Amino acid sequence: MKKLWGGRFTKTAEEWIDSFGASISFDQELVMEDIEGSLAHVQMLGSCGILTKEEESVIKEGLSSLKVKAEKGELPFSVDYEDIHLNLEKLLIDEIGPVGGKLHTARSRNDQVATDMHLYLRHQVEEIIVTIEEFQKTLIDVAEKHVETIVPGYTHLQRAQPISLGHHFMAYFWMLERDKERFTDSLKRINLSPLGAGALAGTTFPIDRHMTAELLGFEGIYENSLDAVSDRDFIAEFLNHSSILMMHLSRFSEEIILWSSQEYRFIELDDTFSTGSSIMPQKKNPDMAELIRGKTGRVYGNAIGLMTLLKGLPLAYNKDMQEDKEGMFDTVITVKGSLKIFNGMIATMKVNSSVMKEAVYQDFSNATELADYLAAKGIPFREAHEIVGKLVLSCIQQGCYLLDLPLETLKDASSLIEEDIYDALKPEEAVRRRNSAGGTGFKQVSSAIEKARALLSLD
Ligand code: ARG
Repeated sequence: MKKLWGGRFTKTAEEWIDSFGASISFDQELVMEDIEGSLAHVQMLGSCGILTKEEESVIKEGLSSLKVKAEKGELPFSVDYEDIHLNLEKLLIDEIGPVGGKLHTARSRNDQVATDMHLYLRHQVEEIIVTIEEFQKTLIDVAEKHVETIVPGYTHLQRAQPISLGHHFMAYFWMLERDKERFTDSLKRINLSPLGAGALAGTTFPIDRHMTAELLGFEGIYENSLDAVSDRDFIAEFLNHSSILMMHLSRFSEEIILWSSQEYRFIELDDTFSTGSSIMPQKKNPDMAELIRGKTGRVYGNAIGLMTLLKGLPLAYNKDMQEDKEGMFDTVITVKGSLKIFNGMIATMKVNSSVMKEAVYQDFSNATELADYLAAKGIPFREAHEIVGKLVLSCIQQGCYLLDLPLETLKDASSLIEEDIYDALKPEEAVRRRNSAGGTGFKQVSSAIEKARALLSLD
């Protein structure tokens, strides 16, 4: 098959070699972006007098007709034309004749592909930001319902201090807020136009890069043509920001998996987000959470893959860069899917508040309360810690909890302990009284929720 670039070649490549070099199987994902970029390019060529108005309008019509066919999935792509750019050029020439060959004036596939990727990622990142925000809204709703639901808080996966369940969910809200900020910030780098950088050095034609940038909704242009065609930082950033986001979802998944186990029974996932076992009839598995935890690995892989791909590349374009796409597409699909599933899973899960409460009452996570109580009465905290530690030990030996100890026993440990200790030791009180800024006290949690709502312009 004669290539569109075949002029200086005497041999045609064999099919199996062509197919190794081709990217059309995956870069057809960029079909709309490629047409959009071409429409802007040809309009600029017409305005700058590089093509005649007549040529401009014939090419535009041809491109528009390809667009209609692309929307219906009717464009016959072929591996013979390597990638989406050459396939579209060939289809354009088929559609309108040799004048279609003028579209590529003052352009290279190198600035063309970079432009496509910028357009693609802008759109996807904008969608991801919206999807994060939808999930954040769900978290606010669930947190609001559970401001006063108490649950053990953990460190080292050992019960540490009782907390508000709403506070726990809001921790994820703030993580997602940072994820959203990172994606939002990256938009200013994604939203730059490489178009007009040519193969690497610019062009001799009197083009107007600002015009194409404006037509494509870019905020500005790359200042350096070499940088424009060889920069993939914006994709690397996207993949790394996605990795951090997935790491958050993966940690959350881990908790969902633990919490829905028979050992915890803190939550029950809706049937829709669970699956059964083919052999064990009693099983209800948190598959979706496990899968999101698992998919985090491939998102990390895509990020490290691109970083490795780029690290040894001299300027400017190198064919290696064709490998930048599949990981990006895969991460887009994985991140959007994971966020949507997580949103549904959290919105529909059942919270077993009574099991959580029981867990909080049947442990020593109020021990800090007793130490704080003594410290507030003037005993150095370190001594208070020791006194309470001994009480905990004697409870463990007797098989009871701090709230079960009679006042005399407590007074034996420290004469400063009064009747009011029983209130202070109640887990609800322990939570309520943690009213320091950002703490788990009910008032703090409510005001954090209010802040979060304002941030999302809800209400
Ligand atoms: N398919 C190529 C890619 O994705 C397009 C750019 C090719 N440019 C070139 N000079 N071979 O990177």
